[in-house]
Amino acid sequence: MALWSGRFTEDVSEFTQRFGASLPIDKQLYAQDIAGSKAHARMLGQQGVIALDDVEAIVAGLDRIQARIEEGEFAFDINDEDIHMSIEKALIADIGEAGARLHTGRSRNDQVVTDTRLFAKQRCHDLMEANLQLRRVLVDAAKEHFDVILPGYTHMQHAQPVFLSHHLLAYAWMFSRDFGRLSAAYEAADVCPLGSAALAGTTYPLDRRATAADLGFSGVTANSLDAVSDRDFLLDLSYAASVSCVHLSRLAEEVVLWSTSEFGFITLSDAFSTGSSIMPQKKNPDFAELIRGKTGRVVGDLVALLITLKSLPLAYNKDLQEDKEGAIDAARTLEDCYTCMAGMISTMRVNAEAMREQVNKGYLAATDVADYLAKKGLPFRRAHEIVGHLVLLCDQRKCGLEDLSLEDFKAESDLFEADITGALDAESIADARMTEGGTGRDAIRDQLRMIETGLLADESRL
Ligand code: ARG
Repeated sequence: MALWSGRFTEDVSEFTQRFGASLPIDKQLYAQDIAGSKAHARMLGQQGVIALDDVEAIVAGLDRIQARIEEGEFAFDINDEDIHMSIEKALIADIGEAGARLHTGRSRNDQVVTDTRLFAKQRCHDLMEANLQLRRVLVDAAKEHFDVILPGYTHMQHAQPVFLSHHLLAYAWMFSRDFGRLSAAYEAADVCPLGSAALAGTTYPLDRRATAADLGFSGVTANSLDAVSDRDFLLDLSYAASVSCVHLSRLAEEVVLWSTSEFGFITLSDAFSTGSSIMPQKKNPDFAELIRGKTGRVVGDLVALLITLKSLPLAYNKDLQEDKEGAIDAARTLEDCYTCMAGMISTMRVNAEAMREQVNKGYLAATDVADYLAKKGLPFRRAHEIVGHLVLLCDQRKCGLEDLSLEDFKAESDLFEADITGALDAESIADARMTEGGTGRDAIRDQLRMIETGLLADESRL
């Protein structure tokens, strides 16, 4: 019989028992549940609600249960419904009467959300660490390949030359914003609901702030109805995970593209590639594809939780039991994706020559040739048109802008002088983009300094 079965005369069916149970998922929260119970018991003792001897027996009993779980000796029973019931029942079986006093002034409704908040805080912390590791890898790669030049793209068409360092740092910035989102999710989780009891608070003289402090929470929730039904912190975690996975999927997509024979920009290490069961020559970027694919599931986790919460009346409803599976999955998936991406980037080979070769295609200097004329006083729109003619000429001759003679240039505009050839060199073109945040190497150096300062600041927050 369940611990709540006093007013029942019939047992639930085996099916409804299984259907209603959250144990297969929430047993992952055993450590948080035990920590929460110990803190609650200690506070009950301090407030004189239960005897100090009972507190001692409860704490020692809970420690024994934790050891049994961790040694794989705890027999989880689906009939216990959830981790809270499992542990409480085992405690009562172990220490009797004292164990039966633990649930004084508490409900599973404030207990479950306390556990979940502790769990979410831990996961946010782990994810922030994994996020930092990926950013370090990107920054190291940007430094290592600082001078490598490649085409920058818009619409997947060659646009203007950029440095690879600039391209890699673009991702580092995305992930540093994600760190901010994870940190916001951590803060959202960082208030303690214990003391809200089932929905309305409790008549016992609880010291909510003492329990909160004991558990490392920064504060307590302000409204008991909100406290037992609020899962915004899980939405925040799932949202942060979704956005970061979307960023990872963008990088993963470029890894897939760049490792094709059409691009050949990078070669993944064998450790991050797989073969084909039929085509002996194949080396597939499976792990980048998986990161791309897993993003769908993480975004699904967010949407599922949003819809679970939609239209829920106050206060606790059993629907809320569906909150954990997706959020746990989103956090675990993101952590794995961070680890995988960091490994893949730090071990890939960059084929600078292949990148360089593509820089010579697609008239990447066209904007700069137009700027050359505009800087000599020609209105930019006019200059744009003239360079358009030059590109057309190159198209017809199947050559690059750098293959045109000064006469070819002059035939389009008198403003062209011999120094036009200097405007066609990809490195100079890129380096000339000195605006803050541009791809000029001096600007990238400033950017690197900023991103490293941010990394240090974020490291110090952990
Ligand atoms: N297993 C439940 C959950 O995860 C715990 C709270 C249940 N409370 C209740 N009164 N049924 O949400």
